[in-house]
Amino acid sequence: MKYDFDSIIDRIETRSTKWLKFDDPNILPMWVADMDFQCPPEVTEAIKKRVDQGIFGYTERPAELTSLLQKRLVDKSGWEIDPEWVTWMPGVVVGLNVACRTALSPGDMVMTPSPIYRPFVYASDNMNRGRLNTDLKNVEGRLELDYESIEQLMSEEIKMFFFCNPHNPGGTVFNQEEIKKLVDICEKNQTIICADEIHSDLIFEPGRKHLHLAQTNEYALNNSITLLSPTKTFNMQGLPCGAAIIPNPELRQEFRRNMRGIAAHIGVFAYTAAEAAYKYGEPWYQELMQYLGENRKLLKEEISKIEGLSLYGPEATYLAWIDCSKTGLDDPSDFFINAGVGVHRGEWFGDSQFVRLNFGCPRSRLEEALSRIKKAFSQRN
Ligand SMILES: Cc1ncc(COP(=O)(O)O)c(C=O)c1O
Repeated sequence: MKYDFDSIIDRIETRSTKWLKFDDPNILPMWVADMDFQCPPEVTEAIKKRVDQGIFGYTERPAELTSLLQKRLVDKSGWEIDPEWVTWMPGVVVGLNVACRTALSPGDMVMTPSPIYRPFVYASDNMNRGRLNTDLKNVEGRLELDYESIEQLMSEEIKMFFFCNPHNPGGTVFNQEEIKKLVDICEKNQTIICADEIHSDLIFEPGRKHLHLAQTNEYALNNSITLLSPTKTFNMQGLPCGAAIIPNPELRQEFRRNMRGIAAHIGVFAYTAAEAAYKYGEPWYQELMQYLGENRKLLKEEISKIEGLSLYGPEATYLAWIDCSKTGLDDPSDFFINAGVGVHRGEWFGDSQFVRLNFGCPRSRLEEALSRIKKAFSQRN
């Protein structure tokens, strides 16, 4: 490997959100979705160069950024976009909130799968819009949409569907047939779909391409807001920069109007990082996926040996959604944390019988976490 994913890097000094979460320094933080790896060195180099200029005033988007995204989407998924469709924002969560403001009037509702990354829930609350949950079905560990329930719950008030693909938590990569079924229901009800596809580069199956919801058909193209970002792929979450891709001109105009003065400027370094990542990050990303794939394999093997725990996939993301419902534990998250493994609490996503474990870390750290988990469960029996 050309790039180093094995080194242990102290992150406390940098005020890392992940590493300051737990007061007890003996707990390994494995919660929020950032990885304990340095980002592509080419990104760091580009930032260093920009630092040397010493002037950090208001900054326009790098001239090539949109065309780099455009090229990436064609290369990775065969999706041909018009650069006009793209609106850059300081992060994808901003996009979730602006989408609620744009697609929903007071009294309207968004349908939101559950469990889900909590900011989806906050977005409709923040904007004083209604929300109706549709529970995902757990099909042998794979979280799937429940189309019957979605159809039943659909009504005139539901003006938007929040789709997360790959889904967080659980890492389901929805296939063409599944996406089409959802699009058909939304078309029948004339519902807009906001598709958060931030994790779409992190699919494990070799050769499998992510299918953007907007690629499905004309309805999906003209009634969707697709949210993407380089920050998860290249591990630079502290440099927020994301894109909303909205082919429909009226919807796009409304979205931009709703962002005005509310969404902050994208930072100088975030722009520099995004451009460098798209331009030079591919070799690093290819090795990252290999490394993560090996971590995932190890995690699955070891978790399967522990009675009561089960883990499906994940088909994408470095976030394992571990089912603890057969352990008999009242609070599985507490159990893991007391064992020294700082998981993300399942209830934050909507299911307290699960924990979410981030395996985007050096192998030795994952091994240490697994040995702590095994020890805690063996001592319990
Ligand atoms: C599905 C999903 N959307 C958005 C985000 C965060 O996006 P951003 O940091 O660009 O606001 C995350 C982070 O974990 C996520 O999992």
